[in-house]
Amino acid sequence: MSRFWSEMARRTEPYVPGEQLNRMEIIKLNTNENPYPPAPGVTEAIRDAAENLRLYPSPTADSLREAIAETENLVPDQVFAANGSDEVLAFSFMAFFNPGKVIRFPDVSYSFYPVYSNLFGVPFEEVPLRADFTLDTEAFSEAEGGVILPNPNAPTGIYEPLDGIRSILEGNPDRVVIIDEAYIDFAGPSAAKLISEFDNLLVIRTTSKSRSLAGLRVGYALGQPELIEGLVRIKDSFNSYTTDRLAQAGAEAAFRNVDYFEETTGKIIAARDRSATHLAELGFTVLPSSANFLFCTHPEADAERLYTELKSRNILVRHFGKPRIKDYLRITVGTEEQMAKLFGALEDILNQN
Ligand SMILES: Cc1ncc(COP(=O)(O)O)c(C=O)c1O
Repeated sequence: MSRFWSEMARRTEPYVPGEQLNRMEIIKLNTNENPYPPAPGVTEAIRDAAENLRLYPSPTADSLREAIAETENLVPDQVFAANGSDEVLAFSFMAFFNPGKVIRFPDVSYSFYPVYSNLFGVPFEEVPLRADFTLDTEAFSEAEGGVILPNPNAPTGIYEPLDGIRSILEGNPDRVVIIDEAYIDFAGPSAAKLISEFDNLLVIRTTSKSRSLAGLRVGYALGQPELIEGLVRIKDSFNSYTTDRLAQAGAEAAFRNVDYFEETTGKIIAARDRSATHLAELGFTVLPSSANFLFCTHPEADAERLYTELKSRNILVRHFGKPRIKDYLRITVGTEEQMAKLFGALEDILNQN
């Protein structure tokens, strides 16, 4: 604590991202990155865009927003883009939630939400997930300040069908409900289908997972133009050029390559389902995942020890030492080869038990 820090810097408890040990020998299954490279065409688009780095980018990321709108069957006025979905989330807290008005999110959820709440002075209530980690949708009705939740949830991977999301929207007609769909492309239908019906719905997405662009930092939001305008007001009061030329061009190229997106997403979903079976064979209880990661616990092996043992074998997974989930590991779905190494290591460790 420094005496020079503002009240804002003092009250924040910063988010701690997953370890980024990018040594070649590390099998990195801890931050839900995509194991496949970005779509063909992305690097070339970035190289072409680099020719014009002398010039500022489009402050409204027009061409990228058009590509996203086409993909989602929306119009560009229903799309907002920024520097990673974490930034879209931060702008959304500023645009739609108010200091002093209590928002709700699940007790097991993305750990950035309480960080933004504290930073922006928005009080929050953590709504307990049911014992099986599914969402108690009724408990989100009439939230004083609004609602935010990931679907599929993180770190559980559990997907809430659209009927449940619809009931949360109906229960909060005068407040914004934010559905953070970082992992939706590995799951069932998106809440984006409900945008025309609900003016209180904001859907937030990222290119970091299903589009293999975690390093480029492009997130986006979908909603009715009134909400998008709110986000633009905040962005333009903060940083007009929040996505740079390279990010806009690279992300647009990724959206234009539908075949590659479908192929890689399909491979990850298939590998996820095979890996869930394999983990169950090793004695793990695995939550039903609709994401690109698996959340699992072993009745006889301590999760923290598994994490440490795997790390000593150069395999990184995520362990959250938090209430309710301290016995669980979150494992990103990697390539066939990476998963085979993970299973080899787990068998080895479990045999030593
Ligand atoms: C639920 C959820 N939302 C948002 C994000 C942030 O994604 P990004 O800032 O890379 O777009 C993540 C990243 O892991 C996440 O798990």
